[in-house]
Amino acid sequence: MKETVLKKFEEIFGDTKDVNVYFAPGRVNMIGEHTDYNGGHVFPCALTIGTYAAVRKREDDKLRFYSMNFEKLGVIESTIVNIKPEEEADWTNYPKGVMWAFEKRGFKMTSGLDVVLYGNIPNGSGLSSSASLEVLTGYYLRDLFGFDVTNIDLALIGQYSENNFNGMNCGIMDQFASAMGKKDNAIFLNTADLSYEYAPLVLDGAKIVVTNSNVKHKLVDSEYNVRRSECEKALEELQTVIGINGLGDLSEEQFETYKTAIKDEVRVRRAKHAVYENQRTIRAVEALKNNDVALFGELMNASHVSLRDDYQVSCEEIDVLVEEAWKIPGVIGSRITGGGFGGCTVSIVKDEAVEEFKEKVGAAYKERVGKTADFYVVEIGDGPSKL
Ligand code: GLA
Repeated sequence: MKETVLKKFEEIFGDTKDVNVYFAPGRVNMIGEHTDYNGGHVFPCALTIGTYAAVRKREDDKLRFYSMNFEKLGVIESTIVNIKPEEEADWTNYPKGVMWAFEKRGFKMTSGLDVVLYGNIPNGSGLSSSASLEVLTGYYLRDLFGFDVTNIDLALIGQYSENNFNGMNCGIMDQFASAMGKKDNAIFLNTADLSYEYAPLVLDGAKIVVTNSNVKHKLVDSEYNVRRSECEKALEELQTVIGINGLGDLSEEQFETYKTAIKDEVRVRRAKHAVYENQRTIRAVEALKNNDVALFGELMNASHVSLRDDYQVSCEEIDVLVEEAWKIPGVIGSRITGGGFGGCTVSIVKDEAVEEFKEKVGAAYKERVGKTADFYVVEIGDGPSKL
């Protein structure tokens, strides 16, 4: 990949003298969905696919970006002076948002940059191509300008820019998974205080299969923000009867005791998902530590049901993929992953059932939905790096 981006850099910007190449991964979340903005736990892992950048400092203030994924857009130009979101800046609003967020923290770039990007995360698949682009940008800015920040800061800066520059109120999970990824491990992160531990996720006799529905419903960002404010409102209502900082502070029993404080049936279901999903995540990691992969799988399945019925972030295509997966005996667990409304499912599939899984789920999806699904047997990779 390094050669590919370097070659393109040479083609677009003339030569490759003093050019550095960097990588930051995408992520898949195993369990703990829509808990990260509720002070709950998540359990994502970084992938070996992600975004690559070839970058060189300029002598002036110009920013010139070129993406091999959006070749038709050509070179998109702007400057490091007075960075603000602009429609014509298109996808470059993501790296520019990160530059802006660094400046807010007092880290000023001393020159412009020429950047060529290439990403091998399928577009709109819910595997965090935007978070990987944000972490990648932070990572090369730190390297090129000597900004004194940790990898956790890179995650926070990425999230801050996505929230405040790009208008998507995401939690910290995606950026954290990209910035802190560790080969063969998932990250058990408590989003209430950012404490975390790594848990090995090399499954004996089974694989992690990501299935791409190849649909992305338009509602994704707006509905996401709606869910987030429903949870905030439910939290405020609960806080009138119990002293908590987030829905993640509640056990299931406490939730059942206090839920009458929530004055709307839809909000009760949203909050219920957040509380139960957090507890499921804690239990799932415990199960994994006890080598009880079967229980881990059951909790994944329960997570899907809750996201489908109570949180209502699934869609027909994804439900078909999950239902068909559940029919196969060699499937240990299967659920929607990521923000929802399309994107991917994640499944744990016994080695000997992987081919059957691809065939049967693929055929049923074609028949029932009329679309083609893509399957990736994923590998868990490290965080960002300079290549
Ligand atoms: C998106 C957001 C994350 C998280 C997930 C849902 O990926 O970016 O912060 O909220 O949705 O779990």
